[in-house]
Amino acid sequence: MIKVLLSQEIHPEGRKLLEGKFDVRIAPSAAEADLIEAAKDVEAIILRTNAKITRKIIESAPKLKIISRTGAGVDNVDVDAATEKGILVCNLPAVNNVSVAEHAVALIMHLAKQLSAMDRAVREGKWSIRNSNIAVELEGKILGVIGMGSIGALVAKKCHDGLGMKILAYDPYTKEKFKDCDYEFVGDLKELFRRADFVTLHCPDTPQTRGMVTRDLIYSMKPTAYIVNTARGTLIDEKALIDALKERSIAGAGLDVFTEEPPDKDNELLKLDNVVLSPHSAAMTKEATTRMSTEAAQAVVDYFEGRQPRYIFNIKGLIEKGVELSYKSRF
Ligand code: NAI
Repeated sequence: MIKVLLSQEIHPEGRKLLEGKFDVRIAPSAAEADLIEAAKDVEAIILRTNAKITRKIIESAPKLKIISRTGAGVDNVDVDAATEKGILVCNLPAVNNVSVAEHAVALIMHLAKQLSAMDRAVREGKWSIRNSNIAVELEGKILGVIGMGSIGALVAKKCHDGLGMKILAYDPYTKEKFKDCDYEFVGDLKELFRRADFVTLHCPDTPQTRGMVTRDLIYSMKPTAYIVNTARGTLIDEKALIDALKERSIAGAGLDVFTEEPPDKDNELLKLDNVVLSPHSAAMTKEATTRMSTEAAQAVVDYFEGRQPRYIFNIKGLIEKGVELSYKSRF
């Protein structure tokens, strides 16, 4: 039976697709040494974000033919090493877009309506908070969207069409796609930070974007403005954000991601009352988790049953090398 390694247990619906067809095992840990041992005789790996498939692991797994990611990102796979060995790296673009976009909208609404403060006050018997007028309306407010890819575009659409917000977008690569939308694109991040009532981040962590939200940009925001991050913690100068939040130089923040995850227990963000936090859980809805496991398992099933998996991230490199994109001898 073909051996499949799971870097971590997957949702039972995904498991079901593998049962009876494959010999499925789970890696004992995400440590490289354990993965080398666990992967040495497997033909497929289903990879969650808990582990990294390094060149060393790939080179110690002579039978490995396919690595199937349960998400869109392949930053935890040495794709070059896999391509050199003719191994398919499959991913799932857009599998959790709706979940992440909804989470960003939820953070925006939570901040606008000051739900954390309201909830605390009611529990503490401070009913008079209802007269404090700390909540705001979103209609007509400016949402600055950084990164108009699949998630950013969805957040813009939901906030524009559903909530009546004005969209100010910054994305040097995708402006053309939105020429028919009533969105204003700016070529300068400074303008976006200066004008937006809410800023939401949706670009990847790359050497160009790391630390892109600088102290200067944060301090250029209106004192009534909020920042929401469901992309990556590394995009923001976290120390500067904490300073600005403490000094009330901005009104608040909604954060699903942090520079260090989980954040250290002494991280000051955990003590501030003008932030709402979630544990990098934007994608982890029931629906998206089920889809992530079933579609990642399906890619493995398709490959070994002689069909080309739907999304092959390194397809170009594999074609150049003349690698077959499905397994010919059925099992
Ligand atoms: P995508 O690849 O569809 O879109 C990314 C967009 O960022 C592209 O339009 C690209 O042109 C733009 N971009 C690249 N460099 C930029 C720059 N310097 N300035 C402005 N825009 C730039 O990616 P998608 O699916 O929309 O995801 C966005 C990010 O969300 C991911 O990279 C990931 O970090 C994060 N994410 C977070 C999750 C969570 O659980 N919190 C789950 C899934 C994704």
